[in-house]
Parts: sequence; C-alpha cells; structure tokens
Amino acid sequence: MRKSWSISLVTASLVAAGVLPVSPAVAAPPGATLAAAAERGGRYFGAGVQSYKLADPAYTAILDREFAVVTPENEMKLDATEPVRGRFSFGPADRIVAHAEQRGMRVRGHTLLWHSAQPSWLAALQGTALRDAMLNHVTQVAAHFRGRVQAWDVVNEAFADGTSGARRDSNFQRTGDDWIEAAFRAARAADPDAKLCYNDYNIENRAHAKTQAVHRMVRDFRQRGVPIDCVGLQSHFTATHPVPADFEATLRDFADLGVEVQLTELDVEGSGATQAEDYRRVVRACLAVDRCTGITVWGVRDSDSWRSSATPLLFDANGVKKPAYTAVLDTLNRGPCR
Ligand code: XIL
Repeated sequence: MRKSWSISLVTASLVAAGVLPVSPAVAAPPGATLAAAAERGGRYFGAGVQSYKLADPAYTAILDREFAVVTPENEMKLDATEPVRGRFSFGPADRIVAHAEQRGMRVRGHTLLWHSAQPSWLAALQGTALRDAMLNHVTQVAAHFRGRVQAWDVVNEAFADGTSGARRDSNFQRTGDDWIEAAFRAARAADPDAKLCYNDYNIENRAHAKTQAVHRMVRDFRQRGVPIDCVGLQSHFTATHPVPADFEATLRDFADLGVEVQLTELDVEGSGATQAEDYRRVVRACLAVDRCTGITVWGVRDSDSWRSSATPLLFDANGVKKPAYTAVLDTLNRGPCR
C-alpha cells in the first residue's frame, strides 16, 4: 500500500508539472490485487478463513496476496471459544489473528452470539442463568481480542425467514427481546474500539419482511443509543436467492440509518460470465453507497467454500483466477461511479 501511495505521489507531481495528462487512470494506478483495488475506493476486501488451512502454502499465497481482512469462518463461534462453561479456548482463533497481524491484515470477528454452533452446556440453560452466561461469553471473548478485532458480528441471524418479520425462536430469544441490545452493550464495554455489527442472511432484498424487520431494529437501536455501528449482509447468492435488483437500495436504506454496511460472507453460485456479472453487480452496489465500507468473500478457492459444489468463489480449486475474479478486480478499479 505504501508503494502504491508513493507511485501516486510521483504520478501526481508529473501531472502537476504538465508531464502527464490529467486523467483518473494515471492519477491512481489500478490495483493489481483485490485488496489494492478496493483500497483505491476506500474499501477493504477480505476473505473467510479456516485456521487449519493456514498450513497449506497454496492457500496462504492467495490469501496473503489478495486480501486485507480475514474473518475466521468457525474459530470464534460459541462452541469453539467456550466449549466448557467458563473455560475459554482461543487457540485456533488466535492463530488466525496472529497470521493476520504478522502480515498487516485486519480481522473481522465472527460471531459472539448465534443460535447455532452452541456448546451443549449452553443449550441446556435458560432464563437468568442463560442470560448471565450469554453476557459473560460476550464480555470474555470481546475482552480477549480487545483492540485486535476491527469489527465484531455481535449477533448473527436473530430474525426469522418468511413474511412474519419476527425474531427467530432461539434459547437467547426466549430470555427476552432485549437480549440483542444487552449483547451490544456488553460488547461495547469489553472492546470500545471495535465496530459492532448485526449480521444476517436474506436481508439483501429490500422488499422482504426480514430485511425490513432488521431495518426497524437498527433504527430503534440508533434512536435509543444502543451501540451499533454496522449491519453485515451475508450475501450468499444462489439460483433461488439471486442478487436482487434493489440490492443497492437496500444497502442505502441501512446506511441512511447512520451505520456502516459490510458484505460479510459473499459468495455467488454459478460459473463463467453469468457468475462474473453477478459479482460485478454486487461490487458496484457497494461502491455506490458511501457507507458500504468493505466486502468479504466466504473463502478463498471454490474448494475451500462451505458449499464448494456451487463453485461460488473467485478462485478455482487450483487457485486460478476465475472470470468472477477479473470482474471484481475491474469493478473495484473503476471505483465509485454514480
Ligand atoms: C459456515 C462455515 O463456513 C462452515 O465451515 C461451517 O461448517 C458452518 O458455518 N452463515 C454464517 C456462517 O454466519 O457462520 C456460516 O459459516 C455460513 C452461514
């Protein structure tokens, strides 16, 4: 990054001296990697990672070259970090954080609370005991990583699918509607500098009841001073959940509440030119919204994906750049165009 700045400074002085013509293309040279291209538009580009893959040099070569931010896919979840009540286990998550820090990459924390991936001791609690254990978990985990996580998914997937706009039933939800705000307050107290995000899937389509319900919650939190800084849209797109026509409008609606929006787990089922075009539309939507601050794809190569048969990522199993990669890089390099 320092290198590209000095190149732009040299370019800028050549332009000022009348040696080079003024054009955006020469004023800021195109980024050669996803991270560099995103940085030109003031965005980050990240990837979901799995700690055991850090031993694979083919994997880390791409990760370290292309991405500026990492999100542990599983290593910060409840079952991983507190397998036994009050006994915290941070080894695999710490390895990912150390890998990132050694290379100047930042970390998104995922996730403090989720109805899924819970250890059995937690699933057995209810009422005040569960609420206390839940808040203690948030406090301990956020405190462990204090100052080292750029943004936390404090709560993941708390709303129901379908048309109800209701909260999802879960053990946490059964402790009372205020569990989400209690979690955000505990996270803020434990790590005051981390951005605190609400993260969910199927909130990409503005018309959907679930999207509107999350929007209402975030508006309410902002109005009442509950500490929330960002909304994460997972953005797992498939044939049955394609990139919606109103995706940019959805991002803008959330951003208008004064929060950042981040695409946190992007992947797009498909291949070839069609997949490339879908990726292009997604990146363009983010670039069009000032508060859309970054994009994370949910894995590095197709073979690393949680749904690898959908070949939803930017590199094929051999680590070769796909048409979708070129589309993303090119769109990032074009920058915000309104
Ligand atoms: C997935 C991981 O990628 C898989 O490795 C794991 O087996 C299951 O969880 N929404 C989320 C992520 O918020 O935590 C999920 O990650 C994918 C869906």
